[in-house]
Amino acid sequence: MPSTVVVGAQWGDEGKGRVVDIYAKRADMVVRFQGGNNAGHTVLVGEEHFALHLIPTGILRGTSCVIANGVVVDPQGLVEEMRDLEARGVAVRDNLLIGENAHLVLPYHRALDAAEEKARGAAAIGTTLRGIGQAYTDKYARSGIRALDMTQPEALREKLAANVAQKNALLVKIYDAEPLDFDQVCAEVAPACEELAPLVTDTAALINRALDEGKRVLFEGAQGTLLDVDFGTYPFCTSSNIIAAAAGVGAGVSPKRLDAIVGVVKAYTTRVGGGPFPTECPPDLAEKFRHQGREFGSTTGRPRRIGWFDAVVTRKAAMLNGIEKLAVTHLDVLDQFDTIPICVAYHSDGEVRDTFPNSLAHLERCTPIYEEMPGWRRDTTGVRSAADLPRAARAYLDRLAQMMGAQLCMALVGPRRDQTIVIEA
Ligand code: GDP
Ligand code: IMO
Ligand code: MG
Repeated sequence: MPSTVVVGAQWGDEGKGRVVDIYAKRADMVVRFQGGNNAGHTVLVGEEHFALHLIPTGILRGTSCVIANGVVVDPQGLVEEMRDLEARGVAVRDNLLIGENAHLVLPYHRALDAAEEKARGAAAIGTTLRGIGQAYTDKYARSGIRALDMTQPEALREKLAANVAQKNALLVKIYDAEPLDFDQVCAEVAPACEELAPLVTDTAALINRALDEGKRVLFEGAQGTLLDVDFGTYPFCTSSNIIAAAAGVGAGVSPKRLDAIVGVVKAYTTRVGGGPFPTECPPDLAEKFRHQGREFGSTTGRPRRIGWFDAVVTRKAAMLNGIEKLAVTHLDVLDQFDTIPICVAYHSDGEVRDTFPNSLAHLERCTPIYEEMPGWRRDTTGVRSAADLPRAARAYLDRLAQMMGAQLCMALVGPRRDQTIVIEA
């Protein structure tokens, strides 16, 4: 397949990094197309943990990587991430380019994210405080600063001056917060921008050229479908489009050129931050998952909320993304259970419904209807082929795929690279 899009089909942290890392072995280019350093994609290489935030996971395979226009780029965060990887022996600068039209996340976005969350009080979204929503707000308000501006320091300084003045008014007058010092903002941001400027280019042209040449391009999604700003659990979502169609917009590629859509799901469900979560487990049960599944946010370290697999959620994701192939991660975490509930529909207002409501008020009245699948009570962390999977584990995987109308292509049984079962290449 010349081009493949990998998307999360739940609320993020499905294990997209692991799946992209596997596909990246055979890719010529890996492209991030949305989100920012709110993402945390973890790959374990030997005993070494890598958490990628802005840089595509393909960097760990030496693949050519692109941060495309749809991403919001925090220059300071990116430089820090590049240096951290370089200090650990990963070649970054020769393999990374940034889209000219990508918008920047700047210190005032982070300050406003914190101020807005504080002002929301009990209704806080639980953002990653990375300034993501505020950078996308500026993009759509047409007052944003773009990667292109990093190549023109004088113009950048002027735009920064205007924006810092405007944001300071908001910080002080609306949020009763401290203003930012313009000179300090420049002193923080300018060196990072100077360092990144040589990497800025017309990546849409580059990606299309790669596709013209028959190269294999992998589009790495961030977050998960239920965090999509249009189709997720609004306002408890992120501020970008996450669904596969966003790969076209974010990279500047025709939707006709997106060949395969791979959905990634955890064998159960997690989410970080606030918002509805119909199958959420009580804390004592959640603890049973947490250790084996390392269920702490890769970006913020917050403990993730945990629940059983919700097929109403993933059916919605399958529809919105057009998921054809399914990668199921964290199967090993379920090794410990005698029976495994799957939510197949909701009870709502005296009726059974198998679709996810868009109204959060309605969603709050939904209670899950569970189907019980037999557990397998066997350690799967050493299984490497589909034939060696316990029969009940295979039945569980097949049931998930069947409910999503997708073809099972991969099951993961641990965080390490070798803990991979390829079911269909
Ligand atoms: P992403 O944001 O979708 O890339 O996912 P994260 O990297 O944020 O979260 C997934 C976490 O689970 C990471 O700590 C991974 O190392 C770990 N992980 C990934 N796949 C598996 C798996 O199959 N089993 C277990 N036990 N852990 C996994
Ligand atoms: P990856 O790519 C899980 C969540 C935050 C919060 C909401 C809004 O690793 O799957 P934001 O900072 O984006 O304004 O926060 O979205 N969130 C994620 N949850 N994984 C992520 O990324 C996330 N990125 C944002 O926790 O609830
Ligand atoms: Mg993550």
